[in-house]
Amino acid sequence: MSVLGENTFENVLLKNQSVEITFGDGNKIKFEDCWLRDHCRCQNCYHADTFQRAKHILDIPDSRIGSFRFDKSELVIIWDDKHESSYSPDFLSQFDYTKWSNSRKLSPKLWAGPPVMEKVAKVQVNEFLNTEEGAKRVFQSILDYGFVLIEGVEPSLAGTEKICQALGGVQHTLFGGMWEFTTKAVHADTAYTNIALDAHNDNTYFTEAAGLQILHCLEHVNGTGGETLLVDGFYGATRLKEEYPEDYEFLTKFNVEAEFVETEHNHKYSAPVIRVNSDTQDLVQIRYNVFDRTAMAFEDGEKCRAYYRSLRNLGRYYQDPGNQWQFKLKPGTVLAMDNFRVLHGRTAFTGSRTLGGSYVSRSDWLDRARTLGLIN
Ligand SMILES: [Fe+2]
Ligand SMILES: [Zn+2]
Repeated sequence: MSVLGENTFENVLLKNQSVEITFGDGNKIKFEDCWLRDHCRCQNCYHADTFQRAKHILDIPDSRIGSFRFDKSELVIIWDDKHESSYSPDFLSQFDYTKWSNSRKLSPKLWAGPPVMEKVAKVQVNEFLNTEEGAKRVFQSILDYGFVLIEGVEPSLAGTEKICQALGGVQHTLFGGMWEFTTKAVHADTAYTNIALDAHNDNTYFTEAAGLQILHCLEHVNGTGGETLLVDGFYGATRLKEEYPEDYEFLTKFNVEAEFVETEHNHKYSAPVIRVNSDTQDLVQIRYNVFDRTAMAFEDGEKCRAYYRSLRNLGRYYQDPGNQWQFKLKPGTVLAMDNFRVLHGRTAFTGSRTLGGSYVSRSDWLDRARTLGLIN
């Protein structure tokens, strides 16, 4: 017996191998019999305590609907093999395709340049670590703008690690878990120098690029420069789509290979620079790092030319200072940015500068955001 929820069953019609249901809210949804059998929630078919299906897909009988009955709060199907399944209107009404797919959409708020500093959340460390409200503000800001600032953090690697843990946990890579970098080159990468770094995404050469990058300037003494710059990769891609639709199309399909090489390491990965959801065409990931591209062969001259033209056209939005936000990270303020969306860089600097931080995998930070009820 199901509990009366918000929705009700108004009408149920059997149509060949499907069932057309009209709900109390006026919505009408058609379900195939194979789907209904797969979604039987009886103890034999579903483990309610673990939210897992109990039957292998090959063991779900290819049965037909024998008969059915319904009232406002329950639909009972008696299958031709005598199995009985019961459904509530609230359960079934979630599966309107448009409603269901919209509920899974992220809604990034695109930005260009310094006005974003007024919008992005600046959350005190205690509020983030100790209150649900603070945690929600942090993750909502990452979802909306692709980054957040956490303030009042102890300027040490240990203090930074607490933030990384609360953002989802440290993602280990060849750079370690928590890392600290200075101009002392411990890896073959320009990040470990004092020269300027143009806007880029990290890990274009990994099969699983970092989800978040966490940066904390622990110390900068006896020098100047070293400003961080951020640019919204989704904004640039959206402008490209409007102004150079062919180039956008090209970058969503053409695989660009990137690599990382040092002694005993050779990471390599090939994927489009602009990754979109194949169902919705929504932006999923930007993989833009012009420095880590490998030397590639092209099947024809046209592709080769399209590659240069489209990467340059996209790159112009990212290099445009009007689209960037440049600021100086200070000890105590932790920056967490979505590496699937926001590009980062820094200006050249002098003096001694130590940055601490880590990566957090995308699966892990989205897990936190979902647990907080911010996404589906
Ligand atoms: Fe980087
Ligand atoms: Zn069942």
